[in-house]
Amino acid sequence: MALGSPPDQGGQLSEIDTSAPHIARVYDYWLGGKDNFAADRAVAEAAMREDPNVVEGVRGNRAFLARAVRYLAGQAGIRQFLDIGTGIPAADNTHEVAQDVAPECRVVYVDNDPIVLSHARALLTSEPGGATAYLDADLRNVGEIIRAAGGTLDFTKPVAVMLIGILHCIPDEDDPASIIEQLMGAAPAGSYLAISHPANDINNPGVGRLASRLNELMPMKLRFRSRAEVAALFGGLELVEPGLVRGPEWRPDSDADLANPAAVWAGVARKN
Ligand SMILES: C[S@@+](CC[C@H](N)C(=O)[O-])C[C@H]1O[C@@H](n2cnc3c(N)ncnc32)[C@H](O)[C@@H]1O
Repeated sequence: MALGSPPDQGGQLSEIDTSAPHIARVYDYWLGGKDNFAADRAVAEAAMREDPNVVEGVRGNRAFLARAVRYLAGQAGIRQFLDIGTGIPAADNTHEVAQDVAPECRVVYVDNDPIVLSHARALLTSEPGGATAYLDADLRNVGEIIRAAGGTLDFTKPVAVMLIGILHCIPDEDDPASIIEQLMGAAPAGSYLAISHPANDINNPGVGRLASRLNELMPMKLRFRSRAEVAALFGGLELVEPGLVRGPEWRPDSDADLANPAAVWAGVARKN
């Protein structure tokens, strides 16, 4: 685990196995990024043949991330964010959106993929009054994450925990509900949890084929979940309006937001 300054990019890249497709780089390809290799592109293209909506859908997921952060820093008054499963930097990263609302926001990013680590510098461009840090860690190691993030975030004050497009990387046997309970247990009342999660029960036949294809082709196995399963992950937290909905239906800014085909369940909840 490392917190703070990223290591030398060249050294880090040499640790990346470019022959095996990885979710962070497949996702980067769908978002139009350049940090992907032939193996990632082959998987991404195969998935696109199963579900032609996937490219628009991942943009819809990013748009949910931005709207949720804007809500949290704005209406909810949150000034601290713990964004786990950050991904390769794209448009509207959490600190950019949060600090656009309130420059003093402090953001800790966490991911366990070396290619994300190699881009950590881009995630550390805080506004002067705020702070950003990057933590190379696995979501399943909650104790370590909280300890290391405590160098930047004050866990006696409300924190927004962002689990955007990561929980499908956690299989049932690793008990995602208990991981979330531990994370939210470390945060005081007034904290928030934001989740977006690929769905297996939204009426888009391509999504089921896409999930099967990704699981055939990638070493990491993904678990898409139903609305009831994602609702259970929020535990006893109180969902803010409009509750747990398809991502594009969560406080859309425009008809274009609403028309996005993303097959993800999304919600933001408060710890009372
Ligand atoms: C699909 S991307 C989502 C990126 C971003 N949150 C978004 O929604 O645009 C999932 C990210 O989660 C990371 N990830 C997957 N499993 C993880 C784990 N157990 N611990 C930490 N990061 C993980 C991957 O490396 C990848 O960068």
